[in-house]
Amino acid sequence: MKAGSFYVTTPIYYVNDKPHIGHAYTTILADVLARYHRLAGDTTHFLTGTDEHGQKVLRAAQKSGISPQEQADSTVVRFRDLWKKLEITNDDFIRTTEERHKAVVQRILSDLFNRGEIYRADYDGWYCVTCERFYTDRDVTDGLCPEPGCGRQVERIHEANYFFRMSRHQQWLIDYINSNPGFIQPDFRRNETLGFLRKPLNDLCISRPKSRMNWGIELPFDKDFVTYVWFDALVNYISAVGYLSDDAGFNARWPADVHLIGKDILTTHTVYWPTMLHAMGVQMPKTVFAHGWWLVGRDKMSKTQGNVVDPMAFADKYGVDAFRYFLMAEMTLGQDASFTEEAFIRRYNADLANDLGNMLSRVSKLLCSHCGGSIPEPGETGAEETELRDAALAAARATIESVKTMRIDQGLAGIADVVRRANRYIERQQPWNLARDGRAGELRRVLYCAAETLRIVSGMLYPVMPGKMADLREALGMSRKQPDFDGLIKWGGLKPGLPVAEPSSLFPRVQPQKQDERPPKEAKPVAAKPSGDAAAGPTPAGLITVDDFFKAKLRAARILSAEAVEGASKLLKLRIDAGDGERQIVAGIALHYKPEELVGRTIVVVSNLQPARIRGVESNGMLLAASSGGVMRLVTVDGDIPAGAPVK
Ligand code: ME8
Ligand code: MG
Repeated sequence: MKAGSFYVTTPIYYVNDKPHIGHAYTTILADVLARYHRLAGDTTHFLTGTDEHGQKVLRAAQKSGISPQEQADSTVVRFRDLWKKLEITNDDFIRTTEERHKAVVQRILSDLFNRGEIYRADYDGWYCVTCERFYTDRDVTDGLCPEPGCGRQVERIHEANYFFRMSRHQQWLIDYINSNPGFIQPDFRRNETLGFLRKPLNDLCISRPKSRMNWGIELPFDKDFVTYVWFDALVNYISAVGYLSDDAGFNARWPADVHLIGKDILTTHTVYWPTMLHAMGVQMPKTVFAHGWWLVGRDKMSKTQGNVVDPMAFADKYGVDAFRYFLMAEMTLGQDASFTEEAFIRRYNADLANDLGNMLSRVSKLLCSHCGGSIPEPGETGAEETELRDAALAAARATIESVKTMRIDQGLAGIADVVRRANRYIERQQPWNLARDGRAGELRRVLYCAAETLRIVSGMLYPVMPGKMADLREALGMSRKQPDFDGLIKWGGLKPGLPVAEPSSLFPRVQPQKQDERPPKEAKPVAAKPSGDAAAGPTPAGLITVDDFFKAKLRAARILSAEAVEGASKLLKLRIDAGDGERQIVAGIALHYKPEELVGRTIVVVSNLQPARIRGVESNGMLLAASSGGVMRLVTVDGDIPAGAPVK
């Protein structure tokens, strides 16, 4: 991203109902993009708002026995409150019932009418209230809406109306899309629109007789009609930035860099909107980017299914930043993604609690107890530090690139990887031993390197988790303010001497909801069936067959927490994740490891041992360790591997 300007929009949401996670997602995505662009030094403008006219809103109002304006006024508060809660930094919020918007819509209509782009004719066809779209007989089978994912009953409508000569602009639009491949993104959505444009385009009915539906902007040339909701709503993207009211402001912002939308409103944004703009003689937005759908498990989210996720409640329960992080990390832009509380907790515990939170807590604790509570001098840099530095800088650059290419999930995965590397670096360097052995210079080098990695990581994650990253940076003596990119792609920005505080846990672990996915314990080991040649002959004394070996199910497991067992000086009680939920094991390693050294490590366990009680404490499995002459070292896994990975 080079310094310049950036204008990003979200759809304006209908005020027929309160917001759900789909709305939260698009708005958080726009916020994350806006924040990254501000980091890059771009003059950024971020617009969101509400779509308040039309039949859908009117019907919701009628159902509640209130006026449509009351419906809009009460629902808009829920959107505004949610955006505040979710730390959304929109620069403007437009409501289509505002005068500044209505006036522009009317001027556009007059102008198009005067220039013959709008004409009056009889309309006979179908209408879907949910989609607020007209369909012809050709589009509709069995009286059902043809929109993928809708399929509701459509209504027959026969009435005089006004039409926009959309068909006139069809060939121009096809040519425009073909010669501007970045206009509709991702590529497969462009092909979808081009496919749609292979059929002849109808003119667009842009009015509603007031006698049938009066909740809209009055046509300036016929007071018996109001404007069709899409012809009103799409205009928000220009009315909000000064079209026909503030030329200088408008020219500074338009064309928008990206209209973010969900795939449900692709046609309106890539057919109606560009042809409208073309008729008006206004430049096209640079990109319309359609993201995929959040499903709940495998199902579409819907009120009738009763599976709508309330973003407000979710953010209250788990924290705004973690919610933002999950949405950004979990969805590959363009594809559908699945939202479940289990998936959220899994990612939260892995990326945030175990990796990032744990790293900050280790580093700040060690800095407080061994470096006088301040950032030390970096000292000499060795090969390990160089490797970590290069990885951190590469991930920072890749994150910047991922914002340009709309692959934010990949950028975040790269940052999560750096955190894991840094934790492994700490494990290899064993700063607690350096402290114990009085190797102060090496200790300072290790802690500086780890803290500097946290500076870069927290800066790159700041747009996604502004509150928590401000906390992290404050703990390491930095300003809570958003840092800029320039400082994040250079090593050594953390100033020695900055005061360090031991923060309270940044991301406290969340207990997984249910453990019932865990496979039932086998009461008796299943006897391995002899198979093939290997098992056929007699076994030489002391050797086992591969089948014998496979009776023991060895798995990689992550240590989630560790604590002493009261009254047993050699024992530690560990909570581990062996891929099938949490479990507890008891291990005789207390003389060799301190509990805090263990958390976050990936060890190897025998996962199918019968449960046992050791000194009265339940143990569900056994870890592997090598010991010799009074030294004991854990068997760990060399590199990243998910908890539960089989070891064989
Ligand atoms: O369509 N997954 O408003 P709307 C992901 N007013 N995103 C989702 C989603 C889901 N399950 N559900 C909704 C309208 N969204 C019009 C727009 S713009 C000029 C007028 C998001 O309240 C996604 O961005 O139905 C989708 O496009 C938008 O909410 C639709 O919101
Ligand atoms: Mg919708």
